[in-house]
Amino acid sequence: MEESIFISREERCRILSVDHLADIAPLLGGESELFLVYDDKLGPAAGEIIKALPVRGAIGLEASEQGKNLETVAALCRQLMEAGASRNALLLALGGGTITDIAGFAAAIYKRGIRCAFIPTTVLSMADAAIGGKNGVNLDGYKNMLGTIVQPQQVFICPEVLGTLPPREWKCGLAEVAKTLFLADAPAYAALVGEAPEMPSALLPFVLKAAAIKAGIVREDPFEKGARIKLNLGHSFAHAIEHAAAEEGDDISHGEAVAIGIILAAKLSEAQGIASEGLAQRLEADFTRLGLPTACPYGMQQLLPALRNDKKGQDGKLRYVLPEAPGKVVLKNLNPDDLHLDTE
Ligand SMILES: NC(=O)c1ccc[n+]([C@@H]2O[C@H](COP(=O)([O-])OP(=O)(O)OC[C@H]3O[C@@H](n4cnc5c(N)ncnc54)[C@H](O)[C@@H]3O)[C@@H](O)[C@H]2O)c1
Ligand SMILES: [Zn+2]
Repeated sequence: MEESIFISREERCRILSVDHLADIAPLLGGESELFLVYDDKLGPAAGEIIKALPVRGAIGLEASEQGKNLETVAALCRQLMEAGASRNALLLALGGGTITDIAGFAAAIYKRGIRCAFIPTTVLSMADAAIGGKNGVNLDGYKNMLGTIVQPQQVFICPEVLGTLPPREWKCGLAEVAKTLFLADAPAYAALVGEAPEMPSALLPFVLKAAAIKAGIVREDPFEKGARIKLNLGHSFAHAIEHAAAEEGDDISHGEAVAIGIILAAKLSEAQGIASEGLAQRLEADFTRLGLPTACPYGMQQLLPALRNDKKGQDGKLRYVLPEAPGKVVLKNLNPDDLHLDTE
C-alpha cells in the first residue's frame, strides 16, 4: 500500500491503488464480518473488492438522489439482518456521496451502530462527502433531513476509479473542491482556477488538498458548533435549489447547485456590505472557467420554503456563510424572508 496517509491523527484516510485492495483487510479488522454496499454501476470494481477481501455479503444500490431515503436505508438494514450481520459487522461502501451517505446512516443506526468504511468513487465524495462523518437521507424531498455524525473507520481513495466518471460528475466534484479551497486556502483556489484541470491526475492534488482541509476543520469541530459551519458555504442556497429542482422535475445535481449557491451567497455578501462589490462577478468568471454553472434558474419565492426549513435555521433565522474574499468567509444570521435577493 502507498504510504500517503494524509488526513487525521488517527490515520483514517489513505490513498491506494485498486491493485492493493487486499492490503486493507487488516485495517478493516481482519477477521471481522465484512459487508459491502456498492453503487450498482460499479459492479466490476465491487467484483475486485469481493475477490480481494473476505466479503460476507454484497448489496448493490442504485445511486440516485430520489433513492436517498429512509426506505432504502430500511431495505439495506433488512438485507444486513437477513445476511446475519451482527453488531461486530463492518459496512464497506463503494460509491459516490449518495452511497456513502446512505451506508454511513444505515451503519450508524443498524443494531444501534456498526462500523463503516468508505471507498469514495466520485471527485465530490473523495474531496467532501466521504470525509467528516456526516451521513443521512432526504425526507419528503428535503435534503439530508435525517442523519447522524459518525466518523467512518477508514476512507480509502483509489484515484483510478475516477477514470470512468462521466464529465458532468467530474465538474460537480470540482464545485465542492473549489468551495473548500476558496474558503480556506486562497493560493490553492487561485491555482485551481488557473489550471482548470481536466484530467484525474491534474485534479487529484486539489482533491486531496480539499479533503485534508475538510478533515482538519472537522477534527477541530466534529459536531459543527463552530468552524465546521463555514464548510456549508453555498449550501443553504444549494439545498433550496435542489428542492426547487425536484419540484420542477429539473435535473440539477448537488455540485451544480453548490456552484450556483456560492454565487448567490456572494451576491448576498455584497448586499450585506461584507464582500466588496465585484466578488460575485469574479466568482462567476472563475466558475465559468471551471465549466460550472452560475445562473440560478429559480426566483427567491421558489427558494424560500426550503430556506425556511434549513437545518441550520434557528429562531426563524438562518446562519449564512458569506464569502468576503478568497480565504475568508463570515457567518451571519439572517431571516430568509428579509433577503430580497435578485436570484435569477
Ligand atoms: N456527507 C457529506 O458530508 C456530504 C458532503 C457533500 C455531498 N454529500 C451528498 O453527496 C451526494 C452527491 O454525491 P456524488 O456527486 O458523489 O453522487 P452519486 O453518488 O450520486 O454519484 C454520481 C453519479 O456518478 C455515478 N458514479 C459514481 N462513481 C462513479 C465512477 N467511479 N465511475 C462512473 N460513474 C460513477 C453514480 O452512479 C451516479 O450516477 C448528495 O446526495 C449530497 O447531499 C454529502
Ligand atoms: Zn455539498
